[in-house]
Amino acid sequence: MDETLDTTLNVNGTQVTRRIPARMNLVDFLRDELDLTGSHVGCEHGVCGACTVRVDGEIVRGCLMLAVQANGCKVETIEGLSDSGELKKLQKAFHDKNALQCGFCTPGMLLAAQDLLKHNPKPDREQIRAHLSGNYCRCTGYQAIVDAIEEVANGKG
Ligand code: FES
Ligand code: FES
Repeated sequence: MDETLDTTLNVNGTQVTRRIPARMNLVDFLRDELDLTGSHVGCEHGVCGACTVRVDGEIVRGCLMLAVQANGCKVETIEGLSDSGELKKLQKAFHDKNALQCGFCTPGMLLAAQDLLKHNPKPDREQIRAHLSGNYCRCTGYQAIVDAIEEVANGKG
């Protein structure tokens, strides 16, 4: 049987303590134990970016981090960042530019885009594309996603 470990983390502003199987990854914990299903699971090996969440202010792949490694950390998901309004401009721009179709990649895209704008408020299109290169979208062809992020960077979002 899997070893379990007492783990306490702050998720979207709420302190959570659970006994977690040592090998459970963070995105499975968020989805299956906390019903935070906005973070998606695609490749499960760090390639697609669908599982992107923020841990202590930095985006991480939720499928590559064990939940127990988040002990003592502040974890933010698409749900928390939507509720706080932090992603409002990007969400509006994605909507306005039709930057999503099925929406599977969108939570990860939004977190990656916000991370880019935090570190580089005025990225050019190449920088936007480079920053999103770890987030796969099977539907849009990326053009509209880059347009939406560029719009926010230009202060039009
Ligand atoms: S599910 Fe984590 S990177 Fe694809
Ligand atoms: S909108 Fe479908 S994967 Fe991006």
